[in-house]
Amino acid sequence: MKHDALNLLACPHCGADLQAVATEVAENEILSGQLRCMSGCGGYPIEQGVPRLLPELASRTQSVGECQEQARRSFGAQWEMYEYGNTTWGITVDDRIRVALHELRWTESDLAGKVIVDAGCGNGVLSKALADRGATVVALDLSESVFRAEKYCRSPGLHFVQGNLFFPPLKANVFAAIYSCGVFHHTPDTRRSFDALVPALKQDDVVRYFVWLYSKRSWLFNVTVEPLMRLTRRTPSWLLVPACQVLSPLVEASSRLLTVLGLVQYAPRNLRDRAVQLHDLLSPPFVWYHSFEEARHWAVQQGFRSVMRTPYHVSGDDLNGLDKVLHKYRTVCRPGFGMLCRDREAGR
Ligand SMILES: C[S@@+](CC[C@H](N)C(=O)[O-])C[C@H]1O[C@@H](n2cnc3c(N)ncnc32)[C@H](O)[C@@H]1O
Ligand SMILES: [Zn+2]
Repeated sequence: MKHDALNLLACPHCGADLQAVATEVAENEILSGQLRCMSGCGGYPIEQGVPRLLPELASRTQSVGECQEQARRSFGAQWEMYEYGNTTWGITVDDRIRVALHELRWTESDLAGKVIVDAGCGNGVLSKALADRGATVVALDLSESVFRAEKYCRSPGLHFVQGNLFFPPLKANVFAAIYSCGVFHHTPDTRRSFDALVPALKQDDVVRYFVWLYSKRSWLFNVTVEPLMRLTRRTPSWLLVPACQVLSPLVEASSRLLTVLGLVQYAPRNLRDRAVQLHDLLSPPFVWYHSFEEARHWAVQQGFRSVMRTPYHVSGDDLNGLDKVLHKYRTVCRPGFGMLCRDREAGR
């Protein structure tokens, strides 16, 4: 943990400042120790260089639903399957950053000096790409993925933190942007997650809040895939992980065949990436589906005056091949929608 993370992090229970007590330090970073709440909530461990800011670790009682233990375990197992250097969701990191900038309506030069939360950072690859381009990034995730990410994704402005979106361990009024792709609908309450992060945003008119959420599905999906998912969600990781690895060639071959037949359009993926995606489909204990209008309403209630649905295409000039990148990304993001919220009323 870098010392300047203390300027960005807060007690997840009461929001107070934190004080670091190091027991092991290397190259000016805290490898192990504790972050203590200045208001007396207790101490949160720092392990393998990552602060674990889960309220239950400071002896705060949480309901079982709030701890989200099963989600923590299943996503932890999922990101163990990921091989660093590989694509994520079939997309290279260079393309992911282009998509993220398109979603945030920023150019690469806008990133310099910005303080951003990647909420539910998963493997941390995108968080690193943002930090490598000059941003300061808090990469927050509930699962143990943050420990692997800390090892493989190092960047001077990048801070991995284990935390729960229901109790964001973030200082209020500090962040220029929140970016969250495919996360809130995997918590017990999508709207609660959306609302919980808003206080972390600075109160100025350049802030951005981007979320990508699952859309409502067709009746066909609801009567076929959804019941299967209800079953697999209860399957333990030790069984589901190898099952996804074994099934990935079959799923990939079918998806390529359907693409050739023109029935759907999926970009090809390597088998390791496909296995991660399959696990992501079958394992999360919570999966909620929303309409854009519903999510827009949450944003308006939070005082955002500009709420835009992200178009995953661009027209006009070539823009250095951006439309081609977005075209490929459409095969990934089709089941949901992106929403960019801006221009929040001052004093909210
Ligand atoms: C589908 S993955 C998306 C990862 C990443 N945003 C991406 O686009 O590749 C969802 C992530 O959300 C995290 N997550 C789920 N519930 C969470 C919570 N309550 N607080 C923080 N992270 C959570 C999971 O651990 C998982 O890494
Ligand atoms: Zn506290």
